[in-house]
Amino acid sequence: MTNIPAGRFITVEGTEGAGKSTCIQHVERWATSRSISMLCTREPGGTPLAEQIRDILLETRTENVDSLAELLLVFAARAQHLNTLIRPNLEAGKWVLSDRFTDATYAYQGSGRGLNIQQISQLEGLVQGSFQPDLTLLLDLPVELGLERARQRSQPDRFELEQEMFFEKVRSGYRERAAAQPDRIKIVDASKSPEQVSQQVLDILDQWLAGIG
Ligand code: TMP
Repeated sequence: MTNIPAGRFITVEGTEGAGKSTCIQHVERWATSRSISMLCTREPGGTPLAEQIRDILLETRTENVDSLAELLLVFAARAQHLNTLIRPNLEAGKWVLSDRFTDATYAYQGSGRGLNIQQISQLEGLVQGSFQPDLTLLLDLPVELGLERARQRSQPDRFELEQEMFFEKVRSGYRERAAAQPDRIKIVDASKSPEQVSQQVLDILDQWLAGIG
């Protein structure tokens, strides 16, 4: 029987329509089946203030949003989320699962918007120090397929209105990060059937837990 360590931080990432919500349900069920107490949260957002910043970020507007302003808003929300929700829960021994975290910033603001990676890294250091997720599940699928799924869902937000090329860059950014940090970032082939995706997620979680438990 694997020992369950306290206070682990898992994140789920991917482009629009990759199936993050379903994946999160799989992780939640997996945790419950092992009596792991886990808090689920999301970025941008997770606290009242950070959720307000999320609304600002996602709202469609006629004013052009400066990419640096967007980056700073993302990190402002993250500082609040990390310091008032994520860290205290981890310190109390709970597990935390976040729908997106800083890998999204490298992918969207870095690769997508073309912002300087060094500047993102500086802000990451300021806000997080050396704090990183213990495990990241990256749901990867062809951009076109994801957008098709996402468009069936709801009114597009400010990001979903971007052109396909933007999401191609985001996808490449994510994949490059996964290639550079294979121990932490595990790629899930999200183009497969729901059963196959679920199996991949559970296999990754089991293998990872066996390695840390
Ligand atoms: P969601 O709808 O998947 O929850 O995410 C909201 C949007 O925010 C999504 O299009 C990606 C974007 N985003 C960034 O651009 N940078 C970030 O750091 C995060 C966390 C999200």
